[in-house]
Formats: sequence, structure tokens, C-alpha cells
Amino acid sequence: MEENVLTSELLDSDLNIRPSNLDEYIGQKEVKENIDVFIKSAIIREKPLDHVLLYGPPGLGKTTLAYIIANELGSNIKTASGPAIEKPGDLAAVLSTLEPGDVLFIDEIHRIPRYIEEILYPAMEDYCLDIIIGTEGNTRSIKINLPKFTLVGATTRAGDLSSPLRDRFGIISKLNYYTEDELFQITKRTSKVLEMPIEDDAARELAKRSRGTPRICNRLFKRVLDFALVEGKSVIDLDITSRALERLKVDKLGLDETDHNLLMAIIEKFNGGPVGIDALASSIGEEVTTIEDVYEPYLLQNGFLKRTSRGRVVTEKGYEHLGISHYKNTLF
Ligand SMILES: Nc1ncnc2c1ncn2[C@@H]1O[C@H](COP(=O)(O)OP(=O)(O)OP(=O)(O)O)[C@@H](O)[C@H]1O
Ligand SMILES: [Mg+2]
Repeated sequence: MEENVLTSELLDSDLNIRPSNLDEYIGQKEVKENIDVFIKSAIIREKPLDHVLLYGPPGLGKTTLAYIIANELGSNIKTASGPAIEKPGDLAAVLSTLEPGDVLFIDEIHRIPRYIEEILYPAMEDYCLDIIIGTEGNTRSIKINLPKFTLVGATTRAGDLSSPLRDRFGIISKLNYYTEDELFQITKRTSKVLEMPIEDDAARELAKRSRGTPRICNRLFKRVLDFALVEGKSVIDLDITSRALERLKVDKLGLDETDHNLLMAIIEKFNGGPVGIDALASSIGEEVTTIEDVYEPYLLQNGFLKRTSRGRVVTEKGYEHLGISHYKNTLF
């Protein structure tokens, strides 16, 4: 049964570097500790865990945490993804595969169209499905009972969720960017799993340049490993790490080519801003949502970019990082 609803994510080659229980899940201390309590309480009460909403930028471990929740509950997980749910029947089909105690993971839950989303309300609240069958002029509504289950929803855009849907989640957790220390631990863990030792100063450098994001950290680790292997090294050291990251165009603070393009576009084409998101997106050939979900949050959080009512502005720190004089630029 599970095969049909598997998303490609499970087939990822990084399946083995993905932690499978809460102990192995590094960082996100508060979220982790709270979820641990809620899971233990649900087990004691012999009740399903309340529905969980996980939100935060891509690559911070939402999907990983969803699988861990199921694992810690000793439950099976069924997965679905918002964009794949195009008609009410799609959602009803997913819900009808549920067995008692299952975790249903819906990734990108904000992408479920509103009118379909409504099917979720009674499913979440009363474990039942209200569906309308028949054709025009001859329809009737039927109620189907569902087994008790836990919905785990993940989204990069909590703001796009309708409030009735958001309100039906008993547990809402925001994942934050990881600290350098946490990414250092993740690097060390990945090094063990992939059986490629990495020296501490190299791991620290990688951690510093991973944009606060485990997925990026693991991806860079694999690429640095490629460089090391080809050079015949059996340990990753700082030298190969620095050279590899340079080749990959990841700068000292972890900003990549797109980050640079984005900041440079604002400076060169829009005189440092403010610039609206649509104009910015088309000037660098990226989707608005990609900028908003993937690039901007990190640049904003780290003070390279500022959001004002009139648009995005590159900050002093942004100019400095790019080695451009702010003063000179404002003269034009
Ligand atoms: N807390 C963690 N400890 C160790 N590794 C982690 C942690 N969180 C994530 N990872 C690693 O980072 C990778 C990306 O995490 P994951 O796929 O769960 O992110 P996501 O938040 O679901 O991203 P997206 O929004 O793009 O779906 C995982 O494959 C896993 O190896
Ligand atoms: Mg995910």
C-alpha cells in the first residue's frame, strides 16, 4: 500500500544520511523537546498524536522530522504532496488508505487548493470524510468514517495556509536556520555515515558556509568529498574544503551564485533598491516564489537584505560583503 503514495523523496540517495530518530536529529532543540513530550504523552494516553504543522525554509529538516515522528510513534507513514492533490478525489483517495494510528504526511500543504482543503477539516477534527457523489441534479452527501490518524503538514509558507486549516493543527512548530555548531555536528555525522573522515577545521569551514541549512551542508560535503577522492585524499582537510568551495562558487559566508546575482542585480540595476519582488525576479530570471522561499529568508535573517514597504533594499552589510562602496553607488 505504502508504495503507491511514496514521494520521490524517500528514494533520495541521501536516505542513509537522514536521521531516523529524535536523538539523531541535531539542533532545533525546542521543537524537538516539545515534540518528544507530545509523542510520549500520546503513547501514554493511547491516543493519536495531535496534528502537527512544520514550517520553515527549505532543507531544514521538515520531511526528516515527519518521518521521525512516525518512527517514534511506531506508526506507518503515508505521504502525499500538495501540488499532486488536484481534485477532491485525490485527497479522498489518500485519506481512504489510512489505517488506525497512521501518520499522513502532506508536503507543501499550502499548495492544496482551498475548495479541496475543506475536505481536510472534518477529517482532521472528527476523523470523517464528507463527500458528495452523483452527477448534477442528483447528488447526495455521504459520510465515511476514517480511522484515527495524525496529519503532519509541512510548508515553506505558513502564511499561505488558510486560517481554518492552520487552526486545526494542535502542534505548530517553526524550524529555524541551524547554528554553525549544529551544522558542524551534522557534518561530522554525515562524515561517519559516508565513511569519509573530515578534520575539525574543515568541518567547521563547511558548517560556516552552508547557509544554516543541513541539506546544503550535506550537499557540499558530498561535493568536497568528490574533490578529495579525485585528489587521492583519504581525509577531508581544510585546504581541499576551501578549494572545493571556491570552485563551487560558495563564498566565505555561504552565499552562492544566485545570492550574489540577486544582491548585484539590486545594486546595479536598481541602484541598491528599493525594488519590487516582480521586477527583481524577472531581472535575474528566477521565480518570485523561489526568491521568497529559498533565497530571501537567509539574506534577510543575516542582514544582507532589508524588506521595506517599497521593496527590497541591499543593506550596508550587503555592500560590504560584496566589496562595493555604498557611498559611491548612492551618487548615481
Ligand atoms: N536536524 C537534522 N540533523 C541531521 N540532518 C538533518 C537534520 N535536518 C535535516 N537533515 C538533513 O538535511 C536533509 C534535508 O532535510 P529535509 O529533506 O527534511 O528538509 P525539508 O525541510 O523537508 O526541505 P523542503 O522544504 O525542501 O522539503 C535531509 O536529507 C537530512 O539528511
Ligand atoms: Mg521536505
